[in-house]
Amino acid sequence: MSFNIAVLASGSGSNLQSIIDAVERGSLEAKICLVLCNRSNAFALERAKKAGIPTAIILHSDFENREEFDSAMIEQLQAANVDLVVLAGFMRILTPLFIKTFAGRIVNIHPALLPSFKGAHGIADAVEYGVTLAGCTVHFVDEIMDNGAIIAQAVVPFASDESADTVQKRVLAFEHRVYPQVLQWIANGRVSQNGRKASVQDTGLAKIPSDGSFIVSPQLEDGF
Ligand code: GAR
Repeated sequence: MSFNIAVLASGSGSNLQSIIDAVERGSLEAKICLVLCNRSNAFALERAKKAGIPTAIILHSDFENREEFDSAMIEQLQAANVDLVVLAGFMRILTPLFIKTFAGRIVNIHPALLPSFKGAHGIADAVEYGVTLAGCTVHFVDEIMDNGAIIAQAVVPFASDESADTVQKRVLAFEHRVYPQVLQWIANGRVSQNGRKASVQDTGLAKIPSDGSFIVSPQLEDGF
C-alpha cells in the first residue's frame, strides 16, 4: 500500500517540485495523490500536470467563509484517500475543522527559524529585524499558525548587505532538501509526536565538524 500525500500550494510550487523529484528518483517512497491549489494561476498546477499528478482547484473566493472553503477541501482530500496533508507555500489559514479532520497528519514548511518570524513574510521580517541567521522549519500543523511541533530546521547564514531576495533563494534551496527528507521519515513511520515535541527515530544531531567549529554569522576571524 502506498503512502498517499496531498500537496496544498498557492504559488510557484518549487517545494512541490522538490517533492515530485524526490519521488521520481526513489528517495521518497510515497505517492502524490493530489495537488490542490486555491489559485487557478498557481504555477504548482503546471508542475503537477507535467508530472501526471491529479490536480484540484478550489478557489477560496468562491466560498462565504473559511469553514465552507475548508469543507470543500476536506471532501477532495478524503476522496483522494490522503494519509498526509503537505502544505507547501499554501497561504491560507486553516480552520479547526480542517485541523481536527486530519489531526497529526498535516505538515508545513515555514521560511524562518520558528518560533521567530511567524506569518506570511518570514524572510522579509527576519531581514528587516536584522538577524544574521535565517532558516526554515518543517513542523506539524496545529490550530495556532506556525505553532505545531517542530520536526526539522535548517540554519542559513546571510550577510547584512544581502537583499531579502538573495536570502530567500538560499533558504529555498535548503527547503527543497529538508522537506522531502522529512516526508520520507514520516512515510517510514519514523516521526512521532508527544505534545509540543516531535522526534525522529534513528537520526543524529547535525554533523559538527571534528574541529568543533560551528556556525557563527558573521564569520569569526583567525585568532578567535
Ligand atoms: C516557501 O518559501 C515556503 O516556506 C513559504 O512559501 C514559499 C513557497 O514557495 N511558506 C510560507 O511562507 C508559509 N507561511 P514555493 O511555492 O516555491 O514552494
